[in-house]
Amino acid sequence: MTSEPTQPRPTRRQFTLEELNRFVPGLGTLMPEIGTRAWKLYYAAEAGNWRHAEFQAAEIQGLMNIGAMTRPLYEESLKSFTATHIAKLREAIANKDFEAFAVAFDEMIIAANEIHTSLGRDYIVWMLPDTPPPDLDFTPKS
Ligand code: HEM
Repeated sequence: MTSEPTQPRPTRRQFTLEELNRFVPGLGTLMPEIGTRAWKLYYAAEAGNWRHAEFQAAEIQGLMNIGAMTRPLYEESLKSFTATHIAKLREAIANKDFEAFAVAFDEMIIAANEIHTSLGRDYIVWMLPDTPPPDLDFTPKS
């Protein structure tokens, strides 16, 4: 008895552009990461680790830029948020000024939650956790 030669299964699927579009991250994917990075940002600044704080602030800005690109509905809101709140925060980081940072951080979170409410998402209220993230050591390096 002879058996038909079997075709090897392709290891990767080919996607159309329309299919690939479904994998483009929207705010439902980006926002939880923004929240985690905001947590890290705060405690890095509190520890005086300004290089780490700047890193997290830049990542948040980058994630918001991606959201502005992938979701035109939120483009204006995200752009004006980064131009005001993230810019103010990064200025305080550049000046290594924790007092100014803490004010800018509070204002940013109030504004973020107001935006959530204005978008009909008043059930999304971000809060700074009481303790630093357990997976990072924020001791500043010289
Ligand atoms: C630092 C500022 C911000 C923080 C910390 C933050 C935090 C969050 C978090 C943690 C969630 C997701 C909750 C979850 O699914 O677990 C969320 C959702 C959301 N946020 Fe923000 N947010 C911020 C700024 C903004 C801004 C500026 C906008 C403006 C468009 C925005 C719009 C949204 C929307 C639309 C959702 C719902 C996403 C979805 O599930 O479809 N947020 N936010």
